[in-house]
Amino acid sequence: MTRIGIHDLAVATTHHVVELDDLAEAAGVDPAKYRLGLGQERMSFPAPDDDVVTIGAAAAAPILERHGADGIRTVLFATESGVDQSKSGGVFVHRLLGLPPTVRTVELKQACYGGTAALQTALGIVARDPRERVLVISSDIARYELDSPGEPTQGAAAVAMLVSADPDILEIEPIAGVNTTDVDDFWRPTDSTTAIVDGALSLDAYLHSVTGAWDDYRAQGGPDVDEIHRFVYHQPFTKMARKAHAHLAAHTGVELPVETLETSFRYNRVLGNSYTASLFVGLAAVLDHEDDLAGTRIGLFSYGSGSVSEIITGIVQDGYREHSRRDETAAALAARVRLPLDDYRALHAATTTSSADVETPHVTTRPYRFAGVRGRARHYE
Ligand code: CAA
Repeated sequence: MTRIGIHDLAVATTHHVVELDDLAEAAGVDPAKYRLGLGQERMSFPAPDDDVVTIGAAAAAPILERHGADGIRTVLFATESGVDQSKSGGVFVHRLLGLPPTVRTVELKQACYGGTAALQTALGIVARDPRERVLVISSDIARYELDSPGEPTQGAAAVAMLVSADPDILEIEPIAGVNTTDVDDFWRPTDSTTAIVDGALSLDAYLHSVTGAWDDYRAQGGPDVDEIHRFVYHQPFTKMARKAHAHLAAHTGVELPVETLETSFRYNRVLGNSYTASLFVGLAAVLDHEDDLAGTRIGLFSYGSGSVSEIITGIVQDGYREHSRRDETAAALAARVRLPLDDYRALHAATTTSSADVETPHVTTRPYRFAGVRGRARHYE
């Protein structure tokens, strides 16, 4: 059987960053609540000319630089903070990257699970024709209302992945465990720029999904928990992954030390929630910071409120370290410009309308930018 999986992956984020200590001080909250209680330190925040398209393109560009576009006939763009209710954000990215017209491009949505749905779709396309390579982009800007409990769990990032036969980084195994449950834990109506969330219910729904997906994974013949060497979880905030891992340990009756999750937190702690990208940001952090993973099995737990969840596993390939973008990711994180709280609040409250032409101010120093609205259509450069 053809080996299929992640041949390359790259992370990008926004121009700005907000320090959660600043947010805590302004809110009169003990900073330890965010640092320890949620496990978060900073959150990426978009400049007016950043959005899911620009950071998605920024994540994908280095993949094309390294591998070229040969064989890429599909772009799957996963997001729950898309910029248009009809046109795929992937079409803008396709143009920004200079991809040929002989590509099918589509946007996928199911809350934070969309990136995993895109990955599964990509695996299927490559299984059908192993000559094809699929560009999967997960890109999100997580937004809750100002002064709400969700506010410190905002964030932003994009992860681009090249899915192909004979992958250099992670071969995805065929067995998956899935779970769908209709629950109103978190959603965003089409007339709202911020998510609506029942915090306590969302935590319960997430944990319920861990066991639901795990039981299905085992029922499908997946290996037992002690044959999975590393777990990476969707991280709305990093503490959630600790809760999930402890929950899985209690459910399986197997001791699963939470320290093994630490490296998967390295990027998410300072990016914040990136919805569809979050799980793959965690995977990138593990691959970038652990040297002895070749041949080991990594378990990935994806959760999208509403809710759909999935557990998949992958085998880390020999030589995966040669493909690391650790230095580039560290540079992108360090290059973010700290946003003072007043400016953050003003930017958060600002809305973009499509009813009048507008030129977006030049702020971001990243390679792609949202230039504004002309004739009610979004323009990028
Ligand atoms: N020092 C250290 N820890 C402290 C502290 C202090 N001074 N004060 C509080 N804490 C701890 C609390 O004990 C708690 O930890 P435990 O849960 O381990 O007990 C933690 O800090 C958070 O405190 P609260 O529960 O009081 O926090 P809150 O009511 O302000 O809200 C939240 C927390 C519900 C996660 C909220 O941030 C929220 O609604 N976030 C958005 C929803 C979310 O992320 N849900 C996750 C599951 S849904 C999902 O995964 C999909 C997705 O991406 C959205």
